[in-house]
Amino acid sequence: MQQGKYFSLLRRNMHSCTFNRSRLLAFLLVVGVTLVIYYLLPNTLPDSTRSVEPLRAYDMTTTNKLIVTVNVTLKKSSNQIQVFYRETLPLQKSRESHPPSLEVLLLHGQAFDSKTWEGLGTLSLLAEKGYRAVAMDLPGYGNTPLLDIDKVDKDRADFLLAFLNAVGLQAPVVVSPSMSGHFSIPFLMFYAQRLKGFVPIAPAGTNLYNADQYQKIQTPTLIVFGELDTNLGVRSLKNLKYLPNHSVFKIPTARHACYLDEPHLFHTTLLDFLTKF
Ligand SMILES: *[C@@H]1O[C@H](CO)[C@@H](O)[C@H](O)[C@H]1NC(C)=O
Ligand SMILES: *[C@@H]1O[C@H](CO)[C@@H](O)[C@H](O)[C@H]1NC(C)=O
Repeated sequence: MQQGKYFSLLRRNMHSCTFNRSRLLAFLLVVGVTLVIYYLLPNTLPDSTRSVEPLRAYDMTTTNKLIVTVNVTLKKSSNQIQVFYRETLPLQKSRESHPPSLEVLLLHGQAFDSKTWEGLGTLSLLAEKGYRAVAMDLPGYGNTPLLDIDKVDKDRADFLLAFLNAVGLQAPVVVSPSMSGHFSIPFLMFYAQRLKGFVPIAPAGTNLYNADQYQKIQTPTLIVFGELDTNLGVRSLKNLKYLPNHSVFKIPTARHACYLDEPHLFHTTLLDFLTKF
């Protein structure tokens, strides 16, 4: 009798022990599933109406990063091209302290693409400051296919205009290093009214136009180049200095890709230029 009571008590304890363990397992399972859903959910949220690639970088805690493609149709040839770009949108909080209207379009040099500006932190920095920042892959670079428009400068300006219209950039400040000058300089000549500001960084193609043509452009311009860039840096300055409203920032001891050599100096100067609008 005594013994039976003891065993039944033991059994009950064992039973409640396994019961507690399975409750604990169920609890851990629920917590685990919740965490997995929590971390996966931002990646599965759909973007607006644009055609969207997988949102590989969507960080809700700092900036709203989007990785997007947009179809750009060229009027002249009716050629359609799917242009890849990265975009950061200002946070709600910083939207209040800055006018959200300022847009920045980041172009890139020959050895680079839109990822360069993500890696350098420029995209998220601009979003932090309350700006809408777009970094595009030019035709034949990054994830944008090659487009046969390289012959005529007006066609390259038209391509950039079609991109601006497709992604809804009204009048961005355009940051244009090196090779991208083949696009931004014609754009400056043909569509200066769609440029709020211009930040050429030792751009190519400035010699297509003469001093008279530069003198007619009122766009506020920040000319940036590296002190050690004695080739394109110096040659582009010779033409760009005819722009009536310009300032020059020569980055000490920096080479052609001066924004990569001195990202902090470059960012500080760029942000300072942007506060003037
Ligand atoms: C863009 O073009 C591609 C291929 O032509 C097509 O599959 C896609 O649906 C288009 N996207 C949009 C948003 O029109
Ligand atoms: C020159 O550009 C600055 C912005 O960098 C602007 O504030 C200023 O009004 C411009 N000056 C003229 C004469 O347009």
